[in-house]
Amino acid sequence: MSPHRSTGWCRTTSSMSTVAILLASSCLSAAASNSLVARVLEPLPLGSISPEGWLQDQLQLMSDGLAGHEHDFYNYVSDSSWLGGSSEYSNLNEGLPYWFNGLVPLAYGLNDQGLKNQVSKTVNYVLSHQQSDGWIGPETDNSTRNFWGRYPFFLGLAQLAEAENGTDTSTQILDSMHKFITLMHSMLEDNYLGYVAQKGQTVDDQWGRSRAADMILGLQWLYEHDPRGDAQIIFDCMDLLYEKANNWSSWYTDGEYIKQDLDTVPVNITQYYFPFEHGVNVGQGLKFGAVIRRFTGIDSFADSARTAVDWTFQYHGQPSGVVIADERLSGLSPVRGVELCSVVETIYSLSYLYQALGDVDFADRAELAAYNALPVMLTPDWWAHQYVAQTNQPISHTLSEDPFWNVDLEGQHFGLAPNYPCCTVNHPQGYPKFVSNSFVRSGDNGIAHALLGPTSVKTTTNSGVSVSISVDTLYPFAYELTYTVEADNDFDFYVRVPSWTSASSFVAINFGPHTKVQADSASGLHHLALSKGKTTILYSLATDIRVSDRANDTVSIYHGTLLYAIAPGENYTSYSSNYTGAPSGVEEYDIYPTSPWALAIDPSTLTYNGASPTSSLSKTIWSLNAPPVSITATACEIEWDLVGGYAPNPPLKADRKCKGNPLSIKLVPYGSAKLHIAEIPTMSLT
Ligand SMILES: *[C@@H]1O[C@H](CO)[C@@H](O)[C@H](O)[C@H]1NC(C)=O
Ligand SMILES: *[C@@H]1O[C@H](CO)[C@@H](O)[C@H](O)[C@H]1NC(C)=O
Ligand SMILES: *[C@@H]1O[C@H](CO)[C@@H](O)[C@H](O)[C@H]1NC(C)=O
Ligand SMILES: *[C@@H]1O[C@H](CO)[C@@H](O)[C@H](O)[C@H]1NC(C)=O
Ligand SMILES: *[C@@H]1O[C@H](CO)[C@@H](O)[C@H](O)[C@H]1NC(C)=O
Ligand SMILES: *[C@@H]1O[C@H](CO)[C@@H](O)[C@H](O)[C@H]1NC(C)=O
Ligand SMILES: *[C@@H]1O[C@H](CO)[C@@H](O)[C@H](O)[C@H]1NC(C)=O
Repeated sequence: MSPHRSTGWCRTTSSMSTVAILLASSCLSAAASNSLVARVLEPLPLGSISPEGWLQDQLQLMSDGLAGHEHDFYNYVSDSSWLGGSSEYSNLNEGLPYWFNGLVPLAYGLNDQGLKNQVSKTVNYVLSHQQSDGWIGPETDNSTRNFWGRYPFFLGLAQLAEAENGTDTSTQILDSMHKFITLMHSMLEDNYLGYVAQKGQTVDDQWGRSRAADMILGLQWLYEHDPRGDAQIIFDCMDLLYEKANNWSSWYTDGEYIKQDLDTVPVNITQYYFPFEHGVNVGQGLKFGAVIRRFTGIDSFADSARTAVDWTFQYHGQPSGVVIADERLSGLSPVRGVELCSVVETIYSLSYLYQALGDVDFADRAELAAYNALPVMLTPDWWAHQYVAQTNQPISHTLSEDPFWNVDLEGQHFGLAPNYPCCTVNHPQGYPKFVSNSFVRSGDNGIAHALLGPTSVKTTTNSGVSVSISVDTLYPFAYELTYTVEADNDFDFYVRVPSWTSASSFVAINFGPHTKVQADSASGLHHLALSKGKTTILYSLATDIRVSDRANDTVSIYHGTLLYAIAPGENYTSYSSNYTGAPSGVEEYDIYPTSPWALAIDPSTLTYNGASPTSSLSKTIWSLNAPPVSITATACEIEWDLVGGYAPNPPLKADRKCKGNPLSIKLVPYGSAKLHIAEIPTMSLT
């Protein structure tokens, strides 16, 4: 340990006084012994879980769409400096790492040889060009090196090493990681080179320091899978990164955190708190407390992560389960934007938080974002995406006035790279990581279905029982999940019971009697002791419509995990992206409404139209009118016109008057309605 580390917050050094050692001992439980606090639920190696049913269709569409083609045509991937090329959209050189972090779970989730070839060509190039001092990536000089781009690349490598466990690829990755972290350690010890900007350096260091948890996560993965003789180096790197990290746990305290609408708070990009206002940083930062807790052993970090999630959604949360930040956080206005990168990072952080801390709330929120906020921002064929989505978005095109903080007039139209390329390369991690975190290990001999949906798993419990489980379900479009389980010995199976379910939810084993679910109050898990051999389980969730009040006498309407929206008809007009060499799926779209959207509803008139259990789902399920569910409502047209090409805040209650007779409308799942009103003005119409 180097001398300047004597200020280290939690470690004892030979030069410390007895008093200092005693003080440090209050936090030494995990750190001093180089151990990690256990997660409540443990992730399974990539490759154990496969998408099924409609989720398999979505991953296949991603493979056939933009995600699966970027390797071949998109310059920020195919001509990346990481592959010897020269195309980067910023000096952070993050494009290829973002893409890689999503392509690995997509390729191995689908078990798609073409995508695996893209991954292996990439990893072979990058690792065979690892520099002699251990650096991974194109930057040769310490003065231009920034650890940040390594974080998503490291997370991609970790996933690949799991999926290729036992092969040369896995060994090569682990060798490279050890070489790299040895260099990382000496750079961090050398005045935080590559992490904290040095005098005269132009590389912006806030990204690496705001997103430190993602690198620490990678280091923890290495420690748990292949520590070799490097345990001390790994723990020292975690310490050093944490010491100079932008400290989310401090941000999420009273007096620091900004609770008001940020439009009323002056922008000051030189102020220390600016990085905490950035939407993608927020999405990634949600897991900070839980990641830091694992290696410090300090329990208060768990509550800090809970506060992070609660406050973020209370003060800046969008009804679809994500963070309103058109680059910078705003308040709660339905006009403001949610960024696609922030959506996928939020889903990943929430699924991690469920594993680390085990609160059912995190899993409920991960599903909410994955089944609403993510699909609404992609065209149903997964070729085009938005940079930002608005809660109330009755039209998608080039705006004439800009309602966003730092997103341009193109930001809410669907295309190849509206506003900025980061979401083009970062969006592919969304569903693949959601799928690979859908089942987890629980305790000695348990497997839990953590994130509900159609997936299957083949794995072993910690005590070695081989288990295969497949789930046949239309969830979240219907509420019956049928499990087929085979196990070579008795084991504990758990299903998550979302917080929104009602008391009549039940499970039935082998077509036997219905048993009411009894969820653990913290984790939401219902326990089933299963015997060896084959078991069939029917899990049936019951729920009702939920109406949630939003600002200015508007409501958001849910059934189960789905958010429902007013959806005008859609007229798609396409035009060329002008991208040389783009495959034929690449297009830009304007979407115009073909029926009225300026409506108020009476929330006392809602009725749910469920799916028949024999419904089959369209392959492009996230398109208008594809989901077999809706909510009928009584509505009337009100005066509410576009301003600057977008829908402004809804008229206030006193200004709402019906323009005609009440009519019956159908609200549809938000994710299927690229044009939507999801914070709906209310009126009394009965
Ligand atoms: C490979 O599998 C073994 C046995 O399950 C496990 O202990 C090890 O952590 C795995 N390694 C990687 C890199 O995933
Ligand atoms: C970068 O800095 C580290 C730490 O001082 C050093 O070990 C390494 O050799 C340096 N690399 C280059 C290319 O200068
Ligand atoms: C981060 O903030 C938390 C909460 O204020 C504090 O306990 C912790 O010491 C801080 N960590 C560092 C490295 O400053
Ligand atoms: C911005 O913040 C910095 C650092 O706190 C401060 O020195 C500066 O005066 C602030 N600028 C404005 C315009 O408020
Ligand atoms: C509520 O309406 C007021 C007045 O139009 C507006 O200033 C405010 O931004 C609205 N609040 C939200 C969260 O949309
Ligand atoms: C769709 O929009 C285009 C462009 O505004 C318009 O020319 C066309 O008539 C519209 N089609 C329908 C069916 O509304
Ligand atoms: C493509 O080029 C045409 C003609 O110059 C232009 O009108 C259009 O805006 C361009 N599209 C994009 C997405 O840049």
